[in-house]
Amino acid sequence: MYPLVSAVNKVDFAFILIYSIAAVVLLGITFAMVYFLFKYNKKRHPEPADIKGNLLAEVLWTVIPTIIFMGMFFVGWDSFVALRSVPKNAIEINVEGKMWSWKFTYPNGKVDKELYVPINKPVKLNITSADVIHSFYVPAYRIKIDAVPGLTTYAWFNPNKKGDYDILCAEYCGVRHAYMLSKVHVVDEEEYAKFISGEKEKTANVTLPELLDKYGCSDCHSLNGEVLVGPPLNDIKGRKTIVIIDGKEKEIVADEKYIKDSILYPGKEIVKDFENIMPPYDGEIPENELNTLVDLMLNKKQEISNIEVGKKLIDDEGCTGCHSTDGSIIAAPSFKNLYNAKKQVIKDGKEYTVTADEEYIYVSTKYPEREIVKGFDPIMPPFDYLTDEQIKAITEYIKSLK
Ligand code: CUA
Repeated sequence: MYPLVSAVNKVDFAFILIYSIAAVVLLGITFAMVYFLFKYNKKRHPEPADIKGNLLAEVLWTVIPTIIFMGMFFVGWDSFVALRSVPKNAIEINVEGKMWSWKFTYPNGKVDKELYVPINKPVKLNITSADVIHSFYVPAYRIKIDAVPGLTTYAWFNPNKKGDYDILCAEYCGVRHAYMLSKVHVVDEEEYAKFISGEKEKTANVTLPELLDKYGCSDCHSLNGEVLVGPPLNDIKGRKTIVIIDGKEKEIVADEKYIKDSILYPGKEIVKDFENIMPPYDGEIPENELNTLVDLMLNKKQEISNIEVGKKLIDDEGCTGCHSTDGSIIAAPSFKNLYNAKKQVIKDGKEYTVTADEEYIYVSTKYPEREIVKGFDPIMPPFDYLTDEQIKAITEYIKSLK
């Protein structure tokens, strides 16, 4: 009916209209009441009048409220229809609520705990729950709809302004209900494409030659031991080198700090027999890439990236809604110091002591209902869709939480 008016405007219009009518009626009734108290009190009006019927008044107080109610109904219905009419070209994103986080699955299968959408493309959300009833609430888009286990509900919105908007849970769902928060990030087309393709996390899988090429390092530093303009970078970890500092020779060990310093401020310490020609990379290379580069040179990357992958996984899968990483108890045992800890578990009604080793973590992730740690409720959903590699990464991360 009003193609240019968005659902948000219609909802607001319905709200303001009904609110205004209610306010006017409230004021009118209150004033009339006070006025009648004054005008018809016993002193001024000792004889009560006996009024029998007034056709005009009866018609008016029937017809006027009917018109008002029909008007409110129409405006409310119109906004409801707008909220339920999803444009054909909408992107579909699946939303799953679980105690106590939101999980978004994008058309290409990517999973994240936050909602990224491209600007000016309508978005349809298919909403469900993995456990109890939650309510998907985005005030900015006037969306509030229950997420019910076993049922898929939907909502849609048109992200027409860049920015970050709050997502909340509006249905009490347990002790961490108030922390069941997320964000809608409205970004431009390009950034969305990057996010969807996972390019944002690509640094985790980048190789050393790729990075050296990207920053032009490979023009002067080889990886095969050949001496070019600068020293070769293979086997640099722990290498003893003579450097010249302020004209004096000094033996150093190539550790993380030394390598970082030599990238950022190469002129400070020049390796003996080489010329001071390398440009400083301070401000030229982002910190995360610098860290990745140094980790790769020190062969630390493999181990680190697995931990990073695990860390991101437990965030995205919502594990941190119940398992803390700092030792505090939310609704399940903390991941901190979990690895190799002894746990009392209940299995088939009997109590056992188990060691939280790799096997144990694997089974409790895939089939959590088999053994419940004593003192906790059996509320964890099975994560049987995670691959062995993903569980391995999670285990690595848990191991690192000492
Ligand atoms: Cu989920 Cu409250």
